[in-house]
Amino acid sequence: MSGTDEFLVESSLVHGFVADVREIVTQGLPAAAACDLIRPRFAELLGAERWLPDRFQEPAAASGMGGGIGQWLLYRAGDGSLSLFSLVVPPGAQTPVHDHLAWGLVGLYRGTQDEEIYAKHDGRLELEQRRALVPGDFYALIPPRDDIHRVRTTSVETSVSIHLLTNDTGCVWRHAYDPASGAVTPFRSGYVNVDCVDDP
Ligand SMILES: [Fe+2]
Repeated sequence: MSGTDEFLVESSLVHGFVADVREIVTQGLPAAAACDLIRPRFAELLGAERWLPDRFQEPAAASGMGGGIGQWLLYRAGDGSLSLFSLVVPPGAQTPVHDHLAWGLVGLYRGTQDEEIYAKHDGRLELEQRRALVPGDFYALIPPRDDIHRVRTTSVETSVSIHLLTNDTGCVWRHAYDPASGAVTPFRSGYVNVDCVDDP
């Protein structure tokens, strides 16, 4: 944790969004109730044009996610309690099956994606749900129920999704899963454009 709030994108829309979200988060509501309060603002962000700079919609060849997937930090709280980032997935590429270890909202900004949601049953990973997303679609991630998923771009263009999560997602150690074997691997995705403070 850097201790200082960081905005990587200068946009009054993003600043206003973050201020509203922080006010909601500090109410200490259950995650589902907080997500419901954030939903209208998140929908507004996803529907708005021109606030996300082109460089944050670019893939990244060397990426902690693999597959050229770019994870670009847009904002994070200095205490590690909140982050906003874009995830850029080239055509045909998919993330590992992974978790987030925090609640939040994820929505599609460009392109189309398929999402697969997994759940653990008796130590095994089972596919619970598969859904197709178009721009403007978004969903809440609330552990433990919805925390494990994989996304894949189905459009001929790169997909860009916007993630709001109540941790510093790129810098926390979380988990990648092999859905066939159930093997669990420690996983830290990092961000393309900022370091994690304990990077060497
Ligand atoms: Fe994810």
